[in-house]
Amino acid sequence: MNETLKALRKARGLTQEQVAEALNLSPQAVGKWERGEALPDIQILPALAAYFCVSADRLLGIEKTGERSHYDSIYAGEGYYWGAQPSSMCLEVLKYLPPTRPLKLLDIGCGEGKDAVFFARCGYVVSAFDFSEEGLKKTRQLAEQARVSLRAFNANLQSYRLEEEYDILYSTGVLEYVKPELRGEIMGNYKGHVSEGGLVAFQTFVKKPFINPSRKGKQSDPWKSGELFGYFHDWYFEHCSEYVFDDCHLGRAPHKHASERLFARNIQAI
Ligand SMILES: C[S@@+](CC[C@H](N)C(=O)[O-])C[C@H]1O[C@@H](n2cnc3c(N)ncnc32)[C@H](O)[C@@H]1O
Repeated sequence: MNETLKALRKARGLTQEQVAEALNLSPQAVGKWERGEALPDIQILPALAAYFCVSADRLLGIEKTGERSHYDSIYAGEGYYWGAQPSSMCLEVLKYLPPTRPLKLLDIGCGEGKDAVFFARCGYVVSAFDFSEEGLKKTRQLAEQARVSLRAFNANLQSYRLEEEYDILYSTGVLEYVKPELRGEIMGNYKGHVSEGGLVAFQTFVKKPFINPSRKGKQSDPWKSGELFGYFHDWYFEHCSEYVFDDCHLGRAPHKHASERLFARNIQAI
């Protein structure tokens, strides 16, 4: 609960004093909750949850998302579902922020780890998370085969918030799983944890009127066109693009996707 509360407050740019004042509490109480030294009284919980527009379960960190990664069964099969070769996004990262020193990189939704392992092989200090245990197992296995080390951990991107700073945040094929109502807060949290001059390299799927939105059995929700770029409007864009492509992955019936890529630096744009 302490980490969630702190992340929610920071994402809204509030001080402990402001939260305390709004809820008629002492700033010391808010400080204690955030440090995990005490829990809020059961009577204050609904008001606290309403203030941050989240459920009490979310505040307490016991929210049931009902999401079990359907990727678990996919990744449990033989081989690497997405292959073991890195995405072309990785080469762009190398171009914009090469590992001339041990740069810290986080792969958000690493799947079976093809990109995370590639980055580790290039000399980045890599952390990676996913909520598929099977994917994480494959990530660690691939790292072992490549004789590199990385930190692969299980986290759900709906509730996990960054606490430490990274030089590079990287994500491909994942952000469309972030619930629309959480996107502003999560992008705020991510922006607040990129070092000065650091990079976000994000790819996400976007909605288009000419693309059939039905994605049966999937919990993903493509973003609005330009939405991702909007969250980083005050950063320097190395590159941003939107493109449509035909997907025929693993012999499935061909279908179209629209996608956006953003490489933005934490350098304040004027
Ligand atoms: C299309 S795959 C992309 C994997 C990897 N980034 C790649 O390019 O190979 C989407 C990944 O997002 C993960 N994912 C989906 N929802 C998630 C969530 N709520 N929290 C953490 N990971 C999630 C899935 O388990 C899956 O590994």
